Amino acid sequence: MSAAPLLSIRGLRTVFPTRQGLVRAVDGVDLDVAAGECLGVVGESGSGKSVTFQSVLGLVRPPGRIEAGEIRFDGRDIAGLPADALRALRGGDIAMTMQDALTALNPAFTVETQIVETLRAHRRVQGGARALRATAVELLARVGIPDPESRLGQYPHQFSGGMRQRVMIAIAIACRPRLLIADEPTTALDVTIQAQVLDLLAAMRAESGMGMVLISHDLGVVASHCDRVAVMYGGQVVESGPTRAVIDAPRHPYTRGLLRSRPDLAHPERPIVPIGGQIPDPAAPPPGCRFRPRCPEAGPGCDAPVALRDLGAGRAARCVRVAA
Ligand SMILES: Nc1ncnc2c1ncn2[C@@H]1O[C@H](COP(=O)(O)OP(=O)(O)O)[C@@H](O)[C@H]1O
Ligand SMILES: [Mg+2]
Repeated sequence: MSAAPLLSIRGLRTVFPTRQGLVRAVDGVDLDVAAGECLGVVGESGSGKSVTFQSVLGLVRPPGRIEAGEIRFDGRDIAGLPADALRALRGGDIAMTMQDALTALNPAFTVETQIVETLRAHRRVQGGARALRATAVELLARVGIPDPESRLGQYPHQFSGGMRQRVMIAIAIACRPRLLIADEPTTALDVTIQAQVLDLLAAMRAESGMGMVLISHDLGVVASHCDRVAVMYGGQVVESGPTRAVIDAPRHPYTRGLLRSRPDLAHPERPIVPIGGQIPDPAAPPPGCRFRPRCPEAGPGCDAPVALRDLGAGRAARCVRVAA
């Protein structure tokens, strides 16, 4: 038996009542993240990636709610924790960078104030104002912000999209979290800065054993930085396993579709084939396999409910046509 995972999610269901009906944004998700590991979470927009991890941190706003499931951090069930306990965990042991840096940062405070407040709140830095300021400068430098000393006194709106993204990452790593959840952290960044930020996060993982979740719609980003990958579709995990194995020999038709829909650097002659159709309506998903209406391999039996099945070698897939 390996050690207990840092984060363990079982049977998570998160719903939003809407005028169109009950949106099942996350519908029975199981995921594990070990210390020091990077788990990639991929899937088209709307597949439930962000809501899964907003649920972990208690960031789902009412009337949205967690309907079922167990969320363990370090063995302790945190799904039902009161708001103040979750707040203590957030930014301390678990940090999350949001997809949208502008809404995640507070427009009314300078970057310095926001970093220093985070450091203070979680008491990870000894010393007075000068030491805190020095740490803030160092953090901005680490995420590749030029001239950090003069930028410290600026407000979020004075930063470009890519710079704001980096500020948010600096705040997230300020307290040396044990788990960092990075939601599309590089989408607004150019390729060089992307690599720089992902390398920094990899170094932190190696140094401190930080666990990490890298949420991305881009399998390429995940392929180069994650040990394991979970592919989400329609609020469910449809395939998971060691990244290399999943990419080299995907078992779920949706994973194959995702791979075909992006350029294959190893085989540039292969055509790029987008997945036809639309993601399912989360208020009225199709019965049985959620991918069935778009699946080129669908056949008899695909309209019956299907569970994520263990395939051995750390792999799993949610498809009746995949033999264990
Ligand atoms: N506050 C909300 N109210 C209603 N529906 C929501 C809300 N937040 C997310 N959803 C729905 O939940 C589903 C999953 O969203 P999300 O987790 O943001 O997807 P992803 O991050 O994979 O793009 C989507 O159908 C989205 O429209
Ligand atoms: Mg998202």
